Amino acid sequence: MLTTKPRGVNDILPDEVWKWHYVENYLRDLAGRFGFQELRIPIFEHTELFQRGIGDTSDVVEKEMYTFTDRGDRSLTLRPEGTAGVARSFVENKLYSGTLPGKYYYVGPMFRYDRPQAGRYRQFNQFGIETIGGHEPAIDSEAVAFAYEIFHGLGLENVLVHLNSVGCPVCRKAYRAALQDHLRPALHDLCETCQTRFDRNPMRILDCKSKHCHELVQGAPSITQYLCEDCQNHFDQVKKILEAMGIPYAVDQNLVRGLDYYTRTAFEITAGKEGSQSAICGGGRYDNLIEEIGGPALPGIGFALGMERLLLTLEQQGSQLQKPDSCDVFVAGLGGNAEILTSQLCHSLRLSGLRVQRDYQGKGLKAQMKAADRVAAKIVLIIGDDEIARQAVICRQMANGEQTTISVNDAVSYVQQKLSAIKVEGDIK
Ligand code: HAM
Repeated sequence: MLTTKPRGVNDILPDEVWKWHYVENYLRDLAGRFGFQELRIPIFEHTELFQRGIGDTSDVVEKEMYTFTDRGDRSLTLRPEGTAGVARSFVENKLYSGTLPGKYYYVGPMFRYDRPQAGRYRQFNQFGIETIGGHEPAIDSEAVAFAYEIFHGLGLENVLVHLNSVGCPVCRKAYRAALQDHLRPALHDLCETCQTRFDRNPMRILDCKSKHCHELVQGAPSITQYLCEDCQNHFDQVKKILEAMGIPYAVDQNLVRGLDYYTRTAFEITAGKEGSQSAICGGGRYDNLIEEIGGPALPGIGFALGMERLLLTLEQQGSQLQKPDSCDVFVAGLGGNAEILTSQLCHSLRLSGLRVQRDYQGKGLKAQMKAADRVAAKIVLIIGDDEIARQAVICRQMANGEQTTISVNDAVSYVQQKLSAIKVEGDIK
């Protein structure tokens, strides 16, 4: 073998891909119900979009971007997330001149150079939404409710919404100073990364994964004590609406999120084993991002979930997704003489809308019946020398073994009738 796949990327094999289709269809349907339309953004963008948009002090920009220079000497970056790209597209295509807020969703691969482990990859897939152009708390509550409903609707257990307000630049200024005052005596005990965060972005120290830093921030002042009146009222109203909608949440004062654009509402969702810390979904408000990248001063809010983490959680919780049927009819041609009729029949059945499989290797009847069983064919059409001579086929219903010989010309309509009858029986049961 010449080479294997790079570290941190995955092949999604045919045996797994149906689960992706299932979840993607579910998400697209839910997005429609919440009034979101799909926006397809490029996989790579100019590097400065992420530097300005996500922020220079975030781990993503500092350590995790796949950045390269193209043949035209431009610095480009594989998108590490979708929000910056959606914001750029919103501004560049003047979507702000349409109805506001604009509500968009996206699904696709993202790239981060991180240490791979279960649920953390270098190429991973996100489903995300962004609502741009509305500052009302009802928009925040709708985003949280949508995110919650994704996991709740899939039947996951232990779905927890961790909610916080990270304030605005006004309240953050006072909070930042208070937090630095609190942490200063322990500055040299913080991990190396947090020591560099102390001046640049001290709030990130609050959600450092190092156990020691975690202990040191216990008792630190919380942003909620420093929220300005507007941010406090906004947060109170978001919570009130969530309660009215019946969306459970827990305020987590240490939740600050890893990307620099957040303002006010920030949230994450976990649905792992009890106490599990890894978020399947994260999001929040970004009221200055659109202006920051050169657009009008319009606020935004959104979230993204990791598709791999969602599928992993479904698997861990033993959720049964409905696997679609892969085959309606198996056409079993026996011997070289059946080759042409088998091909013809398969083609006509496929054109009539049915999922059809067959053997290509001249296997015997027993082996072909086994193959039909493996793909869970509901009907097998058998064509042997006798049938060719009579221009007929044997139609066998797999569930009860019932067999009828029919003329080749009637085969397609007969099979369709039989399949509808099988479906009705199944629905009644
Ligand atoms: P994020 O928290 O960086 O937020 O990522 C959202 C989700 O993507 C995470 O909760 C996780 O499930 C998944 N994810 C992130 N990194 C990886 C990885 N290396 N491997 C597997 N899954 C991963 C954002 O990306 C924001 N753009 C969300 C947002 C939208 N905020 C506002 N609008």
